[in-house]
Amino acid sequence: MLPPNPHSQPRFTPVQQTDFDALGCKLASISHGYLPPQIKDFNDTNITSLYENYNQLYQEFHAHLKPCLSRRLASKLNTTIAHSLPVMNIGTYLRTVSIDFTIIQYIHQLNNSPFQIVNLGSGTDLRAFHYLPQYANLTKFIDVDYPISLDFKSRAIDGSSYLTSFSTSRYSMVPWDLSKGSLIDILIANGIDVAIPTIFITECVMCYLEDSVANQLIQTIKANFLHGLWISYDPIAYSENDRFIAMMNSNLIELRNLSMPTLLKYNSIDKYSNRWVSVFDNLIAYKILSLWDFYMEKLSNVGKLRLKNLQFLDEIEELKLMQSHYILLSIRW
Ligand SMILES: C[S@@+](CC[C@H](N)C(=O)[O-])C[C@H]1O[C@@H](n2cnc3c(N)ncnc32)[C@H](O)[C@@H]1O
Repeated sequence: MLPPNPHSQPRFTPVQQTDFDALGCKLASISHGYLPPQIKDFNDTNITSLYENYNQLYQEFHAHLKPCLSRRLASKLNTTIAHSLPVMNIGTYLRTVSIDFTIIQYIHQLNNSPFQIVNLGSGTDLRAFHYLPQYANLTKFIDVDYPISLDFKSRAIDGSSYLTSFSTSRYSMVPWDLSKGSLIDILIANGIDVAIPTIFITECVMCYLEDSVANQLIQTIKANFLHGLWISYDPIAYSENDRFIAMMNSNLIELRNLSMPTLLKYNSIDKYSNRWVSVFDNLIAYKILSLWDFYMEKLSNVGKLRLKNLQFLDEIEELKLMQSHYILLSIRW
């Protein structure tokens, strides 16, 4: 009998495993038809060109990921896909499109000048493969995550000729623990130019970082990058006794042995955004809104109805409660 191959049975820590939840929710949202978005979903901005290859990208990725998964992880992923509730599927849709919405608005203002994207704590997200073919002026897209997470992601990509065709020299995966210093050096070594406008994405990542690590990250990026956009998506508490967040936190601790260290500390929209606003003294603009606000403001009535009917959602109050507890911050400097 062959000895077990440790490479094929990676041991993910609880925080690294959160990426399987994000991926499972995304695959569920795709399989039920929420993602990709449709033109008629929105009142004004059309972002659908970004999603031309969306289904195929994720289908290929999922198919080539399966052989890399241990039985336990495969079953965990399947459970997430199967049990993702309609409110969660709409949440995944809102999270995905609101980030792309904000990025595209920024890119339009750049008038075809070069720009870069760094996805911090990217996990298995494949945003790079939507953006790179669309924008010739996107000079570099870098995914940063723990070595084990990116090793896993690259094995799935390398297994597919379709996926590898997107992986050009403009794309890099940078295995890195964000709690370690010298992120800038490693980004520069991988082709990032600090003088070019740079979009940083932290999608459900800041909430898992220790306060000092998150604040150091903000300081480092401010100190090194001349211009940019930072988009941060996270859950948010509205008071020290926020029941929704308290339940989320206790579930995480009980089921996963995982906590979100700063969730109750930054327990208002102002406190959350002030972490950036107090550091970026060269701020051009910033906006913070809940995903419920995004749903109400940006989605057309036709779009809302489409989402509602996909799985016959009748719990709109539940959607409101849940999505009010997720925010998107964008800051431009
Ligand atoms: C909830 S997942 C989100 C993944 C992806 N951003 C998305 O939304 O699809 C959180 C990700 O942050 C990564 N992460 C958390 N702490 C990190 C750290 N200190 N260094 C690098 N990555 C980290 C995890 O490995 C995981 O992939």
